[in-house]
Amino acid sequence: MKSYWIDSEKEKEKYKELKEDIETDICIIGGGITGVSVSYYLNKYKIKNVILEKDRICSRTSGYSTAKVTSQHGLFYKYLIDSQGIEFAKKYYEANEEAIQNISQIINKESIDCNFTRESAYVFTQKIEDVQKIKDEVQAVQSFGGKANYVEAQDIQINKINAESDCRIKALAAIEFPNQGMINPYKYVSGLAKVCENSGTQIYEHSKVMDFEEAEKGYHIILENGSRVKAKYVVIATKYPIVNFPGMYFLKMYQSTSNVIVVEPKGELFEGLYINSEDPTISLRTIQEKGANFVVVAGFDHKTGSKIELENGYQYLEKVAKDMYPNCKVKYRWNTEDCISLDKIPYIGEFSNTMPHVYVATGYNKWGITSSNVAANIIVDKIMGKESEYEEVFRATRLEPMKNHKEMRNMIKESIHSLVLNKLDIPEETESQIENGQGGIVEIEGKKVGIYKNNQGEVFKVKPVCMHLGCELAWNNLDKTWDCPCHGSRYTYEGKLIYGPSVKNLETY
Ligand code: FES
Repeated sequence: MKSYWIDSEKEKEKYKELKEDIETDICIIGGGITGVSVSYYLNKYKIKNVILEKDRICSRTSGYSTAKVTSQHGLFYKYLIDSQGIEFAKKYYEANEEAIQNISQIINKESIDCNFTRESAYVFTQKIEDVQKIKDEVQAVQSFGGKANYVEAQDIQINKINAESDCRIKALAAIEFPNQGMINPYKYVSGLAKVCENSGTQIYEHSKVMDFEEAEKGYHIILENGSRVKAKYVVIATKYPIVNFPGMYFLKMYQSTSNVIVVEPKGELFEGLYINSEDPTISLRTIQEKGANFVVVAGFDHKTGSKIELENGYQYLEKVAKDMYPNCKVKYRWNTEDCISLDKIPYIGEFSNTMPHVYVATGYNKWGITSSNVAANIIVDKIMGKESEYEEVFRATRLEPMKNHKEMRNMIKESIHSLVLNKLDIPEETESQIENGQGGIVEIEGKKVGIYKNNQGEVFKVKPVCMHLGCELAWNNLDKTWDCPCHGSRYTYEGKLIYGPSVKNLETY
């Protein structure tokens, strides 16, 4: 289930594992787009910095994204004006528009070959009752001087693809943000990492951080292999913060999983980036590189660990693709996970009011490409003691999101259920009822055991208890993973950690 971006890049730069104790000014935890961007801007000031990546550079969230470079984050600006006011919404928009310019400039200046193209981005609707929402969004963006256009059905590009078929993608109206963009995220991040290394960044792969603790004039960052980094500043650039306290981000966001397929279409490609306004989510873009033409169809977003009641997400996306291109072939499929903040605004800046010189960037709400650049600029400005005009918009220590009572209630309810009630439930299935290719929780000798039987009948047993804060895990038969409904940690069927906040593998039997 490798993403197209990672799989298609055969020649990957390799960085060594950190196997000794070192000292630096800034330790960046996480070698995705955020961590590498922070390092890039630090190098402008010639500040000594180290990147610690637990796996490979750009091998996780960034390498699995759809990589749209846009300030259009769904139907978002009317919501932002209503909840935060017009000045706030304007700043959010400007920060993201600036990020598009920054990314474009970096690509040009550093000659990063990452297939960056300028495209219009559209949010479209297929529901007559959402047409007014599109019009309201256009008005909202225009009210603070943002660039947005209302587009009628006959002018929407995707409506012209296979127009004669009974296509699921038959948009009624759309909002267009002109002059946005798309990239190959792997090429962008790995290219930027190389630039950073050439400017002095020490990059380490397979160097998993387990924790960090206060030390004299800074912090000790502790790796799984026992090595330590002494740093004056720490930047937590993992998708989900790897430490729980004092930040307590597990109370301020949840995780959402999306499915992605890449198809090879027969026929003309469309122009532009698309996402719909309704559920289930459908997100579309194209890839044109190395002489190959592909269409990326992503969406079917669902809270990680939740029961998926609709049809299988990949099948759904495949139907969408086939409605557009009846003879297309699925070349790749993968799933990805993102952090969703309770007020839908990323958390960027100080990790906590009680932990100085530790910075965080998380809760990108599936819009990580521009958000990572916004984050890198804010964090580097803060480290350099400079004011950032955007820092208040994204302030990570804000508690306001917790006033989203509906989401808070849901999170608490699910946590209590998974922490307590699920554990009291007696599993309905027995080991013999689990068929090959399936998994689930059964009781063996009075203990709850998570079981997966592969197609050959080989059995894998884990303790189905999340290593983050102890919630009971749910079996995801689509991706053959153990998923945590509380804060979204995910593990392979063998119990190996895929996504945090957990930093540990499951216990096995
Ligand atoms: Fe927090 Fe599982 S991710 S308990």
